[in-house]
Amino acid sequence: MKAAAKKKVAVLGASGYTGRELHRLLSRHPSLELAAFLSSRLGEEPEAPELPCDAPVGRFEWERLDDVEAVFLCTPHLASAQLAKDCLRRGLKVVDLSADFRFKDAELYRAAYEHAHPTPELLSEAVYGLTERAREAVRGARLVANPGCYPTSILLPLLPLFERGLVAGGTLVCDSKSGVSGAGKKPAARTHFGASHENFLAYGVGFHRHGAEIKSQLGVSDLVFVPHLLPLFRGILSTIYLKPAAGASVQDLRAALAEEYAHESFVKVYPRGMPELDRVQRTNECHIALEQNGSTVVVVSAIDNLLKGASGQALQNMNLMLGLPETEGLS
Ligand SMILES: NC(=O)c1ccc[n+]([C@@H]2O[C@H](COP(=O)([O-])OP(=O)(O)OC[C@H]3O[C@@H](n4cnc5c(N)ncnc54)[C@H](OP(=O)(O)O)[C@@H]3O)[C@@H](O)[C@H]2O)c1
Repeated sequence: MKAAAKKKVAVLGASGYTGRELHRLLSRHPSLELAAFLSSRLGEEPEAPELPCDAPVGRFEWERLDDVEAVFLCTPHLASAQLAKDCLRRGLKVVDLSADFRFKDAELYRAAYEHAHPTPELLSEAVYGLTERAREAVRGARLVANPGCYPTSILLPLLPLFERGLVAGGTLVCDSKSGVSGAGKKPAARTHFGASHENFLAYGVGFHRHGAEIKSQLGVSDLVFVPHLLPLFRGILSTIYLKPAAGASVQDLRAALAEEYAHESFVKVYPRGMPELDRVQRTNECHIALEQNGSTVVVVSAIDNLLKGASGQALQNMNLMLGLPETEGLS
């Protein structure tokens, strides 16, 4: 029997970290073909990549997307908003890795990103693609907003606990640590090797945009989110401090998460022990564990920011949007 033709997809913003990660994933995908691996700057000749890249990045011309069904936007916020609109107008499905479609409310977006949303008319139809929590909506979507990397590590454990009424009110503290690849490929004073190697620091302590994203998804206002920069390339480990609802024990919370994710391929809830970055790096998995500490429940969650926090989850979403098995090309 003749094998079914592969569905053609494209990556725009191919020269960056998440684009490069998608190239790796798509090159071994059984049902998708990376038909266009392109710059996101229309008509401009792409610069020679600053990083070793597995494939040459092509010049972005709309004609190169003629045979393509869907596009990954590996581009910064603002650039993504307009590209998404133009892709949708051409009948392409879109998974956007930027923050442009993660808020339903244009005012929340403006407050977090300090500029007006360029295409607010698309916000209502965009699906927030935390895949395990939005599977059916993602399947039918034209436009998926891939969640932020820190929010993915925090929302996977917290959303089910909130929904089941297992968290008391009061301040929720999320203390997250990320490798430097979270900041993208552009060299910066804080992330270059000399500044980050053998160093460790907190940043965005008073405000970070991902805190606003987490609040809007959880529907809470009393949340302290503080990111830190680890002296390594990839991985996020989040430590979350919460008060359990009256009468709820750490065992109840652990059992709720174990039940929620029992049949998931990519989310593991530990019966004992703690996640480590080493176990999730270069995987699309999220590992979660919980312990009691006095009257506080401490939740620890680990992901690879470039996979479950970006390109891996984006592929999970794209598989669903194109009617393919969700885990294809990811396990
Ligand atoms: N890195 C992560 O862990 C992570 C996790 C979750 C989400 N994200 C999001 O995913 C997106 C891509 O992240 P990344 O880490 O891959 O970034 P990156 O390494 O900085 O790459 C960004 C890409 O966007 C292009 N680009 C930059 N400025 C542009 C502009 N003004 N107009 C059009 N294209 C532009 C770059 O092209 P040139 O080569 O031409 O500059 C490059 O291809 C961002 O929105 C980021 O916030 C990243």
